[in-house]
Amino acid sequence: MSEYKSFATDAIHSGHHPNESDPSIVPPITMSSTYQLAEVGIDDIFTGPVIYSRLGNPTRDSLEKCIAKLENAKYGFAFASGMSAITACFQSFLQSGDHVVCSEDMYGSTTSYLQKLEVQFNVPVSPVDFKKVEDVTDAITEKTKLVYFEPITNPLIGVVDVPAVVKAVREKNKDALVIVDNTFLSPWNMRPIDYGVDIVLHSATKYINGHSDTICGLVSTNKIDLARKMKNAQLYLGGVPSPFDCFLVSRGIKTLDLRMERHAKNALKVAEWLEIHPCVEKVIYPGLKSHPQFELLKKISRTPSGMVTFTIKGGRSEAERFLKSLKIISHGVSLGGYESLAQHPFTTTHGAVSKEQKDRIGITENMIRVSIGLEAVHDIIEDIDYALKKATNNNKA
Ligand SMILES: Cc1ncc(COP(=O)(O)O)c(C=O)c1O
Repeated sequence: MSEYKSFATDAIHSGHHPNESDPSIVPPITMSSTYQLAEVGIDDIFTGPVIYSRLGNPTRDSLEKCIAKLENAKYGFAFASGMSAITACFQSFLQSGDHVVCSEDMYGSTTSYLQKLEVQFNVPVSPVDFKKVEDVTDAITEKTKLVYFEPITNPLIGVVDVPAVVKAVREKNKDALVIVDNTFLSPWNMRPIDYGVDIVLHSATKYINGHSDTICGLVSTNKIDLARKMKNAQLYLGGVPSPFDCFLVSRGIKTLDLRMERHAKNALKVAEWLEIHPCVEKVIYPGLKSHPQFELLKKISRTPSGMVTFTIKGGRSEAERFLKSLKIISHGVSLGGYESLAQHPFTTTHGAVSKEQKDRIGITENMIRVSIGLEAVHDIIEDIDYALKKATNNNKA
């Protein structure tokens, strides 16, 4: 694992430095869409001055510099949403006939988008279980252009051996790009660039912003050719965030260090307690010794995040009653905010995934995914306990 000594300092100070012409301590929100040009003609949009806010904006620049620093990357790019960051990558690097290897257990809209890409643009996609590195190797061909996965799978919270996958891809096809969606962790936990991935991206809507009050995506890379393509994606696809959204995400980042530590502490306590609860069938949390990749997670990430998945004894109606009985935790999609959220992956985040695929990877109707927030942990536990008992009619549990 790489050195994180100054993470908190970098999160607070990178991207904006008060100076004589701009003494503000907090990066200002620059709303101007256009800027006075000093010269006639535009040399290079990548290195040139600020021209027009779709191309670059001082508030966005400050966020992009900060995320690059935190990811240990040279270049950072902000997009209007996690999905717009994801689609910008696929649009920028793929041509008709290229092959994609992706995880079979990831965010439902990414899976649906790739299915569309396959049909509409003739880009064959091979979904595999990234926990089995040999399956990834087997799926790669000489036509593979892009290898795409989430290090923490969704919603089954499996852990992928990122360095081993990167090694396997390089050995089989050195031209294939490796792109990682690290939304379920954060750069505080793990920096995939340190493991050799080409691009790391996030739905910054989640842990990075951390306050459930904006939608944003972030992309980081060390490679200039990939960075230029990302800049072009901002210019030509145009899915960039507003300066106000950038301001909110920058503000969220300042406390990422404190928040991620607390998410992990709370989640571990909840998972340990759930593991012995009589109304619970199974708990999946990589901080538990019972998790099959417990040792792997310790090796590649500082801690797990706050994402806990469990199955309730019973079926869909027990899961539904559980969600309706919660009082503090909200029933809602998304994750990574200061507040705890619970949802039913089978019908919501993974509602569009085929029943056959759900059966194959193990998304069941009695499954609940919880994003453990920053509330007092005894209140979270009390709330879940009440809802579990209500859902299973087990008041003695
Ligand atoms: C892992 C993951 N990636 C990407 C996204 C899409 O992000 P956004 O909602 O910011 O577009 C999500 C949204 O839930 C997600 O969970």
